[in-house]
Amino acid sequence: MDAGKIITHIGVVVWTSKANGSALHAALKALHFLDPLGRSHHAEGQVGFACTQSSPLSDEALNDLTKRFPHPFEQTMSEIESIGPSVNPHDRLQACVVEWMKELDKTATEAHTNGIPSKWEALGDLIVLPLDAFANGAWIEALGGATKAQADQLWAAVAHALGGARLARQDHISDNELRSPRVEMLAGESTWVEFSDYGVHFGFDASKVMFSSGNVTERHRIGSIDMKGETVVDAYAGAGYYTLPMLVRSQAGHVHACEMNPASIEGLKWAAAKNGVEDLLSVHEGDNQATLPKLAGVADRCHLGLLPSSEAVWQHALACLKPTGGWLHVHMNVEKEKVQSWSDETVQKLDEMAHVLGRNWSIEAKHIERVKSYSPRVLHVVLDVQCVPDRSEG
Ligand SMILES: C[S@@+](CC[C@H](N)C(=O)[O-])C[C@H]1O[C@@H](n2cnc3c(N)ncnc32)[C@H](O)[C@@H]1O
Repeated sequence: MDAGKIITHIGVVVWTSKANGSALHAALKALHFLDPLGRSHHAEGQVGFACTQSSPLSDEALNDLTKRFPHPFEQTMSEIESIGPSVNPHDRLQACVVEWMKELDKTATEAHTNGIPSKWEALGDLIVLPLDAFANGAWIEALGGATKAQADQLWAAVAHALGGARLARQDHISDNELRSPRVEMLAGESTWVEFSDYGVHFGFDASKVMFSSGNVTERHRIGSIDMKGETVVDAYAGAGYYTLPMLVRSQAGHVHACEMNPASIEGLKWAAAKNGVEDLLSVHEGDNQATLPKLAGVADRCHLGLLPSSEAVWQHALACLKPTGGWLHVHMNVEKEKVQSWSDETVQKLDEMAHVLGRNWSIEAKHIERVKSYSPRVLHVVLDVQCVPDRSEG
């Protein structure tokens, strides 16, 4: 179907006075009767909402509606203009599920609607749904009663509704040091993804590499800092989430990328070549507790992008900076009300560590970036710290 194409069909329209229109709309929506793509009707002081039912509402359905909407209403069988696929992917997803259920002679219930995801990641043409998408009891039953071909049809429609060609569902992230994600492919087979963001190409195997699209603003912020000619150490490089923007956009002179996951390194090297910056990149494979000490005194800047905390390498990171000092970008999960005190404590700890290393630096927190909510009480923050030689001492 083309976006915006108008299709007509005969279906249920429920009417009430304009004054009660929004209450009726809310009630029909809560009962999952409302057709998200059907145009509403208007006639002299009355408004009518298109429903997904193609035959008159049953007594039971009318009873449910009366409970939620205790005002006068009436239903008609009318011609409904459907506005075609919505530009809103949430509506498109909802509509494709209703359609799929209809083809199976089933009606989407509240439990089905609750199992429809409200967020997902788009990695190129691969849509990655969260762990709990289409996974509650109602969906296990609906999919259990469907043939493989019918299930495949649903997954293809979901991928399409969300603007993709392949579909995967997140599985529990492996409990290993690499935090390799597991994904279950629902539509398509290959797990290799390629995409570009902010003019930077990325590529990796989504079944082996963790990538958080939620960090997009931070990637853009880091990529907007002028690093012309600088040598940078990225202590947790992954598939290049920050390494690549620092090379391509910030114009860093060289990035030393520390990473222990071979699959991330494969993606990082592939993307470095794709972006034409492979000559500006050195990859240090293995545990950064072993690789960072070899980079002592080389860097103008050190990026520490590990959650919940990168504290394990703070001392190594300080040692990586040139004796003339430089910058640290410290990622951390911090309780919302403790961000300022955490920043103060971090500067104090870094100060003590620098002292142990024999660096006479003045260390200052220059900026705290609140990246996103990690959980209701915890924020993912990045602290930009500057270390400059302390002129007050000798
Ligand atoms: C959280 S991921 C990076 C995710 C990225 N910051 C994002 O926003 O999408 C952290 C990376 O650090 C790597 N890593 C974790 N511990 C490490 C260590 N001790 N040495 C080297 N790499 C490590 C992991 O393999 C992973 O690729």
